[in-house]
Amino acid sequence: MSKRLEHELCVVTGAANGIGRAIAERFLLEGADLIVADFDVDTAKKVYENNSQVVDIIKIDATKIEDLEKIAASVEKTGRKLKAVLPIVGNGPQNPIEAITPEEYHLTMNLNVFSSFFTVQKLLPYMSNNSAIVLISSIAGFQGGKDAIIYNAAKAAIRSMARSFTGELAERGIRANAISPGPTETKAFTEFVKGDEEIRNSIVSQLPVGHIGQPSEIASVALFLASDESSYVTGAEIITDGGFTNR
Ligand SMILES: NC(=O)c1ccc[n+]([C@@H]2O[C@H](COP(=O)([O-])OP(=O)(O)OC[C@H]3O[C@@H](n4cnc5c(N)ncnc54)[C@H](O)[C@@H]3O)[C@@H](O)[C@H]2O)c1
Repeated sequence: MSKRLEHELCVVTGAANGIGRAIAERFLLEGADLIVADFDVDTAKKVYENNSQVVDIIKIDATKIEDLEKIAASVEKTGRKLKAVLPIVGNGPQNPIEAITPEEYHLTMNLNVFSSFFTVQKLLPYMSNNSAIVLISSIAGFQGGKDAIIYNAAKAAIRSMARSFTGELAERGIRANAISPGPTETKAFTEFVKGDEEIRNSIVSQLPVGHIGQPSEIASVALFLASDESSYVTGAEIITDGGFTNR
């Protein structure tokens, strides 16, 4: 089968670890050229330094506008147009309602909503007239959940943004969709279960597919949404949760 992103330039943020890394690695296998960005640039360098398809590895704090402008400058330098933009950075502290501070509120909103929106805004001038935005929401964005009220709200905002990008950018040939993963085996997930096998087993028991999602299973969906395979899909959200929310 031919490669789905051969010689296509894409940007992935949060690409050093977890879901972002799985997406970047899958895209490389599919022939993409990549600009990757992450706070953890040491890991990113270890993973990507020797790959000739990786055009640039950029250290960013995705909550800082000047760092997102660095990604745009890197794209500009290539003189090429982008096939896909994937702002994958996101996370949020776990805290009950009464304990959330204004600082935590802003950090959570910035890590998820600000970083997704402004990564796309800064890269829009470089997107081709047959390109795609793939945002990362979460099942947390459409179901309530204890101790994560601001993260849940931030992920709901990201689902909404995918739909608003769709309407406003359709005439420029840009599609926009969101992935809403359920529990996925990454460092963030390990921290969430705090190494507690009981919590972990209880999550597995609630997953109709019988296993915790692998980052590569989210990457397959990202590949579909970033490539022409999904040319008739825009404004959609693909719930990728092993059936968790419909158990
Ligand atoms: N793992 C899950 O169960 C799950 C479920 C639903 C949604 N998600 C979402 O998927 C995305 C990726 O999550 P993950 O589980 O792979 O996380 P992860 O912690 O494993 O990886 C996140 C990556 O983002 C980078 N990063 C963190 N803060 C940054 C910042 N301010 N600037 C630049 N880079 C930064 C980290 O260095 C890391 O490489 C997030 O948006 C998360 O909310 C994850």
